[in-house]
Amino acid sequence: MNDITFDYTYLQVEQTGGVLTLTLRRKAKLNAMNAAMMAELTDIFRRIHERPDVRSVVLTGAGKAFMAGADIEEYRSFDLGAFFAFQNKGRDMYRAIEECAKPVVAAVNGYALGGGFELALACDLIVASERAKFGLPEVKLGLVPGGGGVQKALRILGPYAAKDMLMTGRFLTAQEGRELRFVNAVVPPEQLAEAAATLASSLAEQAPLAVQGLKKLVNEGRDASLETAQAYDRAYLANLFYSADAQEGITAFAEKRPPLFIGK
Ligand code: COA
Repeated sequence: MNDITFDYTYLQVEQTGGVLTLTLRRKAKLNAMNAAMMAELTDIFRRIHERPDVRSVVLTGAGKAFMAGADIEEYRSFDLGAFFAFQNKGRDMYRAIEECAKPVVAAVNGYALGGGFELALACDLIVASERAKFGLPEVKLGLVPGGGGVQKALRILGPYAAKDMLMTGRFLTAQEGRELRFVNAVVPPEQLAEAAATLASSLAEQAPLAVQGLKKLVNEGRDASLETAQAYDRAYLANLFYSADAQEGITAFAEKRPPLFIGK
């Protein structure tokens, strides 16, 4: 990997061309997220944001889980201060993913529960194995989700499906996720890595500033009024028009050749 090495305990990092694949590796605990893993995820997404050689990201889990949520064992050692510090660090981590300039594909290989479901929802696209299970089971611990899951579930699923998921804590299959429109594609387990890599490679070939803009415009537009959101869209478009990549895209179309985008 280029000049900077990524050396983490809970994350395996591999780069193929412009695609960076991050694999959560805490298999024995179903990749449950402790404070150290959270810090590593925040760190890598902040670093990826600055890296022109990284054009898209795949996030997946080792073993039978994507991530089975916050480390419940670690919770037992927390007092209220430590618990809130953990929640605040979680917010920083989800924000680092959502604000990262690169598109992120969640390749959900198994359980995506609690913070793990919130992690998948912080990504831009979700490809799920037929074995994936999505849930917000905090209610079973006497808690509620703290990483944005309540409000995201409401906005994505609507109040009735959200309350079903939140109040019963039941797990949804990949197919249900597809029907509820937060899963982009469902594939057999053995095809997951390739499906996610193919999608990430196609994103890596798009004009980076346009993709970055689309991520930001959709994420920010979701909670803005239609008029305000469309004003953001137009402002972003106006800024893009004289970018080297937009000029290249327009010229390449006229010259009947594929464009070569450089991210400027
Ligand atoms: N935090 C800490 N450890 C966890 C964990 C979590 N969120 N989820 C799983 N683990 C650990 C288990 O304690 C077990 O460890 P052990 O082998 O040392 O006992 C190991 O991971 C394997 O999990 P296990 O429960 O034996 O697997 P399973 O296939 O029987 O069940 C789940 C899988 C996901 C249904 C079950 O582990 C579960 O309900 N996990 C908690 C999910 C949750 O509530 N997440 C939200 C947290 S806020």
